[in-house]
Amino acid sequence: MTNPPLPPSSASQPLSLSYDGTHIVFRLLRCSGWGPELMNFGYFPHRGLLALPANMLVLLSRRQFRLASEAIGHLDVQAGDDVIDIACGRGGASYIIKCSTKAARVTGVDLLAENIRLAKNMFPRLDGLDFVEGDAQALPMEDASVSRALCCEAAFHFPDKARFVREAARVLKPGGRLVVVDFVWTSAAFREHREHEFMRYIRDTWHLDDLFTAEEYRAAGEAAGLRLVREIDWTDNVTRPLQEIFEANVWLAKRAWGRRVLRDFQPLTRNFSDAEWDAVAYSARAHRFMVPLTRYKVMVFDKPAIR
Ligand SMILES: C[S@@+](CC[C@H](N)C(=O)[O-])C[C@H]1O[C@@H](n2cnc3c(N)ncnc32)[C@H](O)[C@@H]1O
Repeated sequence: MTNPPLPPSSASQPLSLSYDGTHIVFRLLRCSGWGPELMNFGYFPHRGLLALPANMLVLLSRRQFRLASEAIGHLDVQAGDDVIDIACGRGGASYIIKCSTKAARVTGVDLLAENIRLAKNMFPRLDGLDFVEGDAQALPMEDASVSRALCCEAAFHFPDKARFVREAARVLKPGGRLVVVDFVWTSAAFREHREHEFMRYIRDTWHLDDLFTAEEYRAAGEAAGLRLVREIDWTDNVTRPLQEIFEANVWLAKRAWGRRVLRDFQPLTRNFSDAEWDAVAYSARAHRFMVPLTRYKVMVFDKPAIR
């Protein structure tokens, strides 16, 4: 059976522009030590405003490593497993899986050719580590060919998330596991905010059309023969602390002494103009609007073994 054509993306700009560093959000993230080999938001073990100074001082790349490692822990990779890292970005999580588990083979798949090229350049060539171009909604893999599948902070991009879940279920062997880390609507009713000015800004910035709710993920998994066995809420460890850092940057940038502080501990923002800080402030307000409408979830699906 041939697959129907892939759904078009409704975003107004190419996906690559979401990550190319010209957008003010990605410039600020890069200046705070974000990336380049991991593209997730980062996991902050210490939560709440008291942790803010400490959270601001640690390079975001360390938080990103922690997020990838925590997500990989939920995969429960066994010796000899074949693992697929769906929408692998620049390959950081694939590399961590290969180095930190006894997986036999790890394949990172991403839609963007430039990400695959970067992943291949950035990581040493290891036996059993491959990066290939492909769409999460039409995976370039045989049926029942992998035992573990990770999709870390990427499915919000996919126009057809149910189709991605079906694809992940198709390539999983019976007894296999899929871990999805994604933003979800707190409630389906919040979809009504999609056309709000701030949400349109967020959707353009992050190249997303719509989100699923956790319940929609569960139902998509069930329809594809997967059972949701664990659902963990990381909102207070991921989106909230990052938003607090974002707003602290804006607060400091509005004050002459604050700019001096920023120059010291975040020197790469030194040349941000007033207009650029205004753009950061607008962006922080738009992201603040989104935070209560969404949750950041880890969802673990198992594919039943054949008896
Ligand atoms: C936020 S990044 C996360 C990358 C990686 N999982 C990580 O944690 O570092 C999202 C990734 O999804 C990829 N992507 C977006 N749409 C895709 C699709 N339909 N199929 C495969 N990859 C896609 C983007 O190119 C980008 O690399």
